[in-house]
Amino acid sequence: MKVLVVGSGGREHALCWKISQSRKVKKIFCAPGNAGTAKIAENISISPNDINGLKKFASKEKIDLTVVGPEIPLTLGIVDEFEHMGLKIFGPYKIAAEIEESKIFAKQFMERHKIPTARYKIAHSAEEARKIIERGVFPYPVVIKADGLAAGKGVMICRNKVKAEEAIKTIMVDKKFGKSGKRVLIEEFLRGKEASFIVISDGVKIAPFVTTMDHKAVFDGGRGPNTGGMGAISPSPFIDRDLFNEIVKNIMFPTITRLLEEGRKYKGVLYAGLMLTEQGPKVLEFNCRFGDPETQPQILRMQSDIIDVFLSVVEGNVLEKEIKWSNEAAGCVVLASGGYPTKYEKGKLIEGLKEAEESKDCTVFHAGTKLENGKYVTDGGRVLNVCGTGKTLKEAMEKIYMTSAKIYFEAIHYRRDIGTVKEEK
Ligand code: AMP
Ligand code: GLY
Repeated sequence: MKVLVVGSGGREHALCWKISQSRKVKKIFCAPGNAGTAKIAENISISPNDINGLKKFASKEKIDLTVVGPEIPLTLGIVDEFEHMGLKIFGPYKIAAEIEESKIFAKQFMERHKIPTARYKIAHSAEEARKIIERGVFPYPVVIKADGLAAGKGVMICRNKVKAEEAIKTIMVDKKFGKSGKRVLIEEFLRGKEASFIVISDGVKIAPFVTTMDHKAVFDGGRGPNTGGMGAISPSPFIDRDLFNEIVKNIMFPTITRLLEEGRKYKGVLYAGLMLTEQGPKVLEFNCRFGDPETQPQILRMQSDIIDVFLSVVEGNVLEKEIKWSNEAAGCVVLASGGYPTKYEKGKLIEGLKEAEESKDCTVFHAGTKLENGKYVTDGGRVLNVCGTGKTLKEAMEKIYMTSAKIYFEAIHYRRDIGTVKEEK
């Protein structure tokens, strides 16, 4: 088979790595990929948002299966377009991807179907938002969210009125997230441990992946602004068998079923960002794609051929072949550029990478990297993902941190507490 992977992050490197282990696969392309995917796939310089360009490429190359990493091509309708041309593709249709594209759609959907989530109000203008805050509908801290895609950065947790006012201004007046600032969601703040719960579905049946937990805040102890994710572990230490079953029964399954009933058949990956509260699990958000970095530890634990997993979705027979997972624990630490998630410099020489990659204990996935004159340099905020497994989470994390210590680039920073999750909210 010829497979095309769309995207350029650590998630896509991990997907290419796992796809390359399938005996069914002869050739992998990655659009546009990074310096890591270049080692196992042919990188092609087409943007993930250039649906026409990707479609032409896939037709010309007779690609047997396309796997989409990021959300934007999905919300632009890449799956609809590819299927129209008779091309096999893994991901949800445009109308189903709205569950991530519009936080307001997702909230109203959950409300209609009694899927547990935080209480909320919608504001259509800055003035309306200020009034909701002033009326004290929700106690502080209050959560203010832009209604659209903002690369995980359009959510602000506001401790007081001044902070809430600042958030409203940033989103709705200064329009920092563009048209995502037309409407905002104002939400009650939920307390608990977070979990990223991921399932695949063919629109009717679902198969859950092993549990994971992301570490969103930039600094140790859950401090500092939120990022796309600074590290992830699998399994989540906070989800036991009963809670797992409850999440599938009360959240994931009803979501897939109700979407189908509403004419939004959902096939692909459904990712629920959950808060495990004292009143039970509640949905913070849905994503229409794999998590990054959650995919990395999940992939390390997957024993099945990932092509079979993708095809079960595309061909509508999820559950017919059980997905097999290892019982080991896995982790991932994100090595980031100084200044991420705000301003950071690129083009810093990466040292010690070869030594880290040769370590038998860990697998290093590339995210924002580039090969320049035969040398690896930084090319993004999240640069490398050091991942590994162990009999226990502690063992996995020890190996990961030993390997991470071999890598250096100017202003490198990473969290030292991934997997010691007690500090998280
Ligand atoms: P979202 O993109 O909606 O998942 O929000 C990003 C992050 O903001 C989440 O992972 C949480 O850490 C935090 N967050 C979002 N909504 C809430 C909420 N209602 N209560 C507490 N934290 C939240
Ligand atoms: N790590 C968070 C996400 O993929 O949305």
